[in-house]
Amino acid sequence: MNILVTGGAGFIGSNHVRYLLRNSDDRVVNLDLLTYAGNLENLAGCEDDPRYRFVRGDIRDRELLRTLLQQEAIDAVVHFAAESHVDRSVEGPEVFITTNVLGTEILLEESRAAGVRKFVMVSTDEVYGSLGSEGHFTENSPLAPNSPYAASKAAADLLCRAFFKTFGFPVVVTRCSNNYGPYQFPEKLIPLMIANALEGKPLPVYGDGLQVRDWLFVEDHCRAVDLALRHGRPGGVYNVGGGNEMRNLDLVHLLLDKLGLGRELITFVADRPGHDRRYAIDASHITAELGWAPSVDFATGMARTVDWYLAERAWWEKIRTGRYVEYYDLMYGPGRRHAGGV
Ligand code: NAD
Ligand code: TYD
Repeated sequence: MNILVTGGAGFIGSNHVRYLLRNSDDRVVNLDLLTYAGNLENLAGCEDDPRYRFVRGDIRDRELLRTLLQQEAIDAVVHFAAESHVDRSVEGPEVFITTNVLGTEILLEESRAAGVRKFVMVSTDEVYGSLGSEGHFTENSPLAPNSPYAASKAAADLLCRAFFKTFGFPVVVTRCSNNYGPYQFPEKLIPLMIANALEGKPLPVYGDGLQVRDWLFVEDHCRAVDLALRHGRPGGVYNVGGGNEMRNLDLVHLLLDKLGLGRELITFVADRPGHDRRYAIDASHITAELGWAPSVDFATGMARTVDWYLAERAWWEKIRTGRYVEYYDLMYGPGRRHAGGV
């Protein structure tokens, strides 16, 4: 197959490109705009593989898509490209709509016109909104997004449904819980806490820190997306989750313990507006239909992740300069949104 991966220079996309090159004979074309989150260093070594091609471009660029889909005789699309950070969507929702909603719509239209045979939409569990202390999201849970990010993903997710229902276009949607692992941009909880801890900077825990996320090692997500591509039922929706519920504060404690550091750097800061309290996934449908289950347990995945950030300090130090400093100041600087006490 010739597979177009969008957003393949980001965290999950780059892990997915590596996954495909390692585990299949397929040809992989990676289309990525290289926004602040896209980084070709995430793909070091891949460019030597004759089955891989990188194209810098925008999923909103119709002409480019038309040419690329035809020129590369693309059989299947795996769509990761997105604005992905909730806090940024609170500061500036617009680009979330243009990239995540309009971009997905344009990609769907052009893929359909080009005769693409399978399209995997990498959606998220955040489309379901927030859970109380009990229960899990199933594929039948109502969509009730609470952040502009989640709303934009829900819109894209539903457009995929519409393309299947209206045009019979073979779209499969995955809705995964929080990922962790190598190459995650240090704006997200785990890499941000590791990098700050190693640099002796405060660890900003939002609100009371008792929010719960369900963590999955990134390679397990990639395997689920690949199963959805090869065996997923057109029009199907698959929840993907690690069954690893953890309170943020407990996770930060665990990271500090792993790094051999004390807890004095933890700083409780103002909460994220609209902060979802708890996510938890019921993944029994993908297990029953596609035989997927997580293969990396939390202890192993966390050890691999912490070791990676320790070994690849140059990777994240380089990112945490320039525009990142402005971002950090906007989010966490004195007088800014997450500054101060709870
Ligand atoms: P990321 O922010 O690390 O990467 C996004 C990539 O998309 C970047 O390489 C960026 O350059 C690219 N991109 C952005 N706008 C683009 C555009 N207009 N055209 C082409 N490329 C563009 O994100 P991630 O964490 O790797 O997430 C990837 C996907 O998985 C997203 O769709 C996200 O919603 C979804 N997802 C993420 C998680 C998670 O825990 N990170 C969980 C479930 C689902
Ligand atoms: P994040 O990694 O941004 O993922 P998401 O919001 O998509 O779940 O955040 C994970 C959790 O960690 C979430 O409850 C918000 C919290 N958090 C903090 O407490 N401090 C931080 O600096 C960040 C980035 C997140």
